[in-house]
Amino acid sequence: MATPHISASPGDFAEVVLMPGDPLRARYISERFLEGARAVTSVRNMLGFTGTFRGKRLSVMGHGMGVPSISIYATELVQTYGARVLIRVGSCGALRTDVKLRDVIVALAAGTDSNVNRMRAMGHDFPAVADFTLTRRAVEAAEKRNKPVRVGSVFTSDLFYHPQEQLNATLARMGILAVEMEIAGLYGVAAQFGARALGLLTVSDHILTGEHLSPEDRQTTFDEMIEVALDVAVS
Ligand code: ADE
Repeated sequence: MATPHISASPGDFAEVVLMPGDPLRARYISERFLEGARAVTSVRNMLGFTGTFRGKRLSVMGHGMGVPSISIYATELVQTYGARVLIRVGSCGALRTDVKLRDVIVALAAGTDSNVNRMRAMGHDFPAVADFTLTRRAVEAAEKRNKPVRVGSVFTSDLFYHPQEQLNATLARMGILAVEMEIAGLYGVAAQFGARALGLLTVSDHILTGEHLSPEDRQTTFDEMIEVALDVAVS
């Protein structure tokens, strides 16, 4: 049976789903990396595909922008379609000088200005953390590929255009590597429904310097991160 936001049939999704924000990136991953991929859902153009990678069944689906959007898709994938492992593959803005454009960040934990995890924890702080095994596999896979990764905390914001200018400096001082818009929500959904999740991020822009990747560098860095994510997905 379909859900309000996913039109796939039961069994259409694999247990492991890679999730980029942009649905066209989902199509790109399926065409470039998967074998025998077929489209399984397209409600609101939030495209999803299932194929195989190194002989293992694997799905890829867009999650849109922001915590509410990723929460809807992640919940329906886990609750209705039997997904057990969700790996966000996205981009972020670096907050610290020791984080460089093109770095890949393994999001060990995510703080947030969103209220969703407090709603889950009856008003208390909730530790939004990555699955440890997936984290370890991502670090090992990146090391094997000689891809520099940073492992640490990120901040998930509901606001791309944030009015509190001091916030970034405060977060950076507290060791938070980068800002993005979904991971705390993804880790909250995984905790609520007993799934496993990981967020991998490429540094697409630098909050302190204003630098950002060219479209070509964006693509290369994205591909390198997807290769790490695929290693994790089939390990
Ligand atoms: N994703 C990529 N760059 C970002 C930024 N600067 N803020 C929030 N999300 C982002």
